[in-house]
Amino acid sequence: EVLEARDLPSVAKYMKSPECRKVFVMLGAGASTSAGIPDFRSPEIGMSACCLTQSNLARFDLTHPEAIFEINFFRQNPKPFYALARELLPGRFRPTPTHSFVKLLHDHSLLHTCFTQNIDTLERRAGVPDHKIVEAHGSFANQRCVECRAEYDAVKMRECLKTGTIANCNQCGGLVKPDITFFGESLPEPFHRAVPFLRGADILFVIGTSLQVQPFASLPSLVPEHCPRVLINLEDVGDFGSRSDDVIILDKCDNVVRALAKELGWEEEFDAAWQE
Ligand code: OAD
Repeated sequence: EVLEARDLPSVAKYMKSPECRKVFVMLGAGASTSAGIPDFRSPEIGMSACCLTQSNLARFDLTHPEAIFEINFFRQNPKPFYALARELLPGRFRPTPTHSFVKLLHDHSLLHTCFTQNIDTLERRAGVPDHKIVEAHGSFANQRCVECRAEYDAVKMRECLKTGTIANCNQCGGLVKPDITFFGESLPEPFHRAVPFLRGADILFVIGTSLQVQPFASLPSLVPEHCPRVLINLEDVGDFGSRSDDVIILDKCDNVVRALAKELGWEEEFDAAWQE
């Protein structure tokens, strides 16, 4: 066992030791809820609850909320996605303390890779460098035609999303969508390139995700047996607890990373980073 106990002080002690050099982070929607972005599956506050109310479902002719992110459904009816994307457009939200913590890991030369399922780009906005972020479900950074794959102009796309106008490809007239990954599409190439590095992880933090969506959900099984895995989430998920160095902390992630920053002696930096 690498950790003295399955708690934050032991995690901090290990992180300060020379043995801990490569820190990996996996983020889900829970990392951004305090920024005001609803997650997908929490009852009451989840996306399906707040944006996709029964009346919206009916208005958009959706049988189930997930259809909004299904590529075949999008081909038939892109309107619900455009309506939702308008709500989600990056730039409207500020990063959370959890994102700032990831930035601090980078500042201390500990961060190897931050895998995120989120498309809100708040990791980048918090100052985590691009090359350390793997946007597993893509982002709003690029957009292309779903038929011929031709790229589409970013300024025009933003205008379309803002006004809720469906964008059509200049080449073939097909539907245009931001490069965020839908069900039925493969994950971006950088994701596949980054996954093997998990085998060299010294510690893995899994924050704010229900681990319901593959292949992301299977990443925690890829770190070596001796690598501590720390789950910071409101509910217990995945197979955490099955390994001797698994740490499970069920609380709001902003509170937990703040406590951990304190244990690490990074309290002032943490507050400064978050207040920037
Ligand atoms: P989910 O909504 O499925 O899960 C969010 C998790 O975060 C839940 O387990 C919550 O309990 C937890 N949570 C919420 N607020 C929290 C907080 N303040 N502190 C700690 N935990 C908190 O979101 P994801 O797992 O990210 O895919 O969803 C995965 C994918 O499903 C998304 O990327 C999206 C969706 O379909 C695509 O769009 C392709």
